[in-house]
Amino acid sequence: MTKYSKPSIVKISNPLYTKHGSGAQSYHPVRDAIEGVAVDELVKKYGSPLFVFSERILRQKYQEAKSSIESVYPNVQFGWSYKTNYLNAICQVFHDEGAIAEVVSHFEYQKARALGIPGHNIIFNGPYKPEAALEQAISEDAQIHIDHFDEIADIESIAKRLNKKVKVGIRINLNCGIYPVWSRFGFNLESGQAWAAVRRIAQSKDIQLVGLHSHIGTFILDPHAYGRAIDKISQFMRETESLVGYNLEFLDLGGGFPSRSSLKGVYQPPEVVVPPPQVYAEAMANGLKWLTTRKNMPKLIMELGRYLVDEAGFLITSVMADKLLPDGRRSYVLDAGVNLLYTSTWYKFKIEIEKEPTGISEPSILFGPLCMNIDIVDEAILLPRLERYERLILSPVGAYNVTQWMQFIQYRPAVVMINEKSETRIIRRAETLDDINRMENP
Ligand SMILES: Cc1ncc(COP(=O)(O)O)c(C=O)c1O
Repeated sequence: MTKYSKPSIVKISNPLYTKHGSGAQSYHPVRDAIEGVAVDELVKKYGSPLFVFSERILRQKYQEAKSSIESVYPNVQFGWSYKTNYLNAICQVFHDEGAIAEVVSHFEYQKARALGIPGHNIIFNGPYKPEAALEQAISEDAQIHIDHFDEIADIESIAKRLNKKVKVGIRINLNCGIYPVWSRFGFNLESGQAWAAVRRIAQSKDIQLVGLHSHIGTFILDPHAYGRAIDKISQFMRETESLVGYNLEFLDLGGGFPSRSSLKGVYQPPEVVVPPPQVYAEAMANGLKWLTTRKNMPKLIMELGRYLVDEAGFLITSVMADKLLPDGRRSYVLDAGVNLLYTSTWYKFKIEIEKEPTGISEPSILFGPLCMNIDIVDEAILLPRLERYERLILSPVGAYNVTQWMQFIQYRPAVVMINEKSETRIIRRAETLDDINRMENP
C-alpha cells in the first residue's frame, strides 16, 4: 500500500506585497547565470547591454524539430531561415547540424555564399530578387522559388542569355484558416493564379517547375493549419504533375512554428498555448502519407526560423535610472530598448532579475534609452524596487531582433555565444564610432 504523505503547506504570497526576508516567497523570477556563466561575469567582460546565445539550445531545438518531422516523413531537409538571425556563428551552427540556407534577398544570398554554402544548397525566396541576384543564383544552381509573373519573365530571359534550363519552384499562398492570409507572397491558389503560373512555366522552354513552396505565416499556434495546407497543396501537386507529366522533386512547407514566447493579447502562458514540434508533425502526417507511397519520394523542406533560434537568445540590460512618473507610476530607464528589440511590438518578453528581490513589488514601466516616446520595453510589469545598475535578463529574444535592430542614436552591442562547455566568445563585437563613420564622406 502506498503511504499517504501529508502535502506540505504552500505559502501563496500576494506579488504586490511580497517582502523579501519576511519569510514570504519572492515571486519574481531570478536568473543570475546563463548556461552556467554568471550574468555579472558576462557584463564585466563584455559590457551591457549584451545579447547572449546558447549553442546548446540552438542544437537541441534543431534536433528536436528535425526528428519530429522525420518521425512522420523520411525525406526531410531543413533550410535555415537567414532573416530570423543571420549572424554568421548562428548560421554556422545550423549548417553544421545539416541545414541548407534559405535566403530572401541578394544580401542574404551573398552572406550564405560568403559562409561557404554552395549555390545548390541555397533556397532563394522573397518578393524582390534583383536581376543581378537572379543571374548569380541561376549560374550557381540555387533553388529559386518564384514569387510573381515578372520574376518568371526575368528568369526566362537570364536563362536564355546563359543558355541554361533553370529548375524552379513557385511559392503559393492559400487559405488554410490562418488570418490574414499572407496573400502578397507568391501565387494565390484559390483564385487560379497559381494554376496560371504552372501553365505559364509549363509552356516555357527555359524553365522547369520542380517544386512547390508555401509559408503560411509566423507563430502559427494551430498545428492543424499545416494539415489543411498540405491537403490543398497535395491536390494542386497532383494536378500540376498530371499537366507537366512528371513528378515534382520537392514540397517546401516554410516555417511558422512558434517559440515559447508570449504574443501580446494572448493571455495564457506559452507553456499552455505553444504546442511542441511533434504535435505539428502529427498534424502533418496524414496529408504527407500519399507522398511516401510514390516511386521518387519528394523532399520535404522545412524553413523553421523562430522555433529554432528564439529561445536560445537572451538580452542582458541594466537599469540606468529610476523615475517616478507624474501619475505615481514607477519607471526605469534601461540601456536597451526598441532599438535592440524590434519584436517588442508584438511579444511580451520574460523578464528575470539578476538578484533576489528586496522590497515591495509595484507596477512599473520599463523604458529604453532612446529619446523617443515609443521606446517602451514593458508598459506594465510588477517589479520589486530595482536599484541603479541592477541587471534584467530578457528572453526569448533570439529571433528577428539581431537582424531587425536599428542603429538609432546608440551603438549596437556585442553578441556572445556560450558553448556546451560554458565557454564564451564574442560572435559580433560592439559597434564603434569608426564603424559608423567609415561609410560617410564629410
Ligand atoms: C519564406 C519564409 N520561410 C521561413 C520563414 C521563417 O518563419 P518562422 O520564423 O515563423 O519560422 C519566413 C518568415 O517569415 C519566410 O518568409
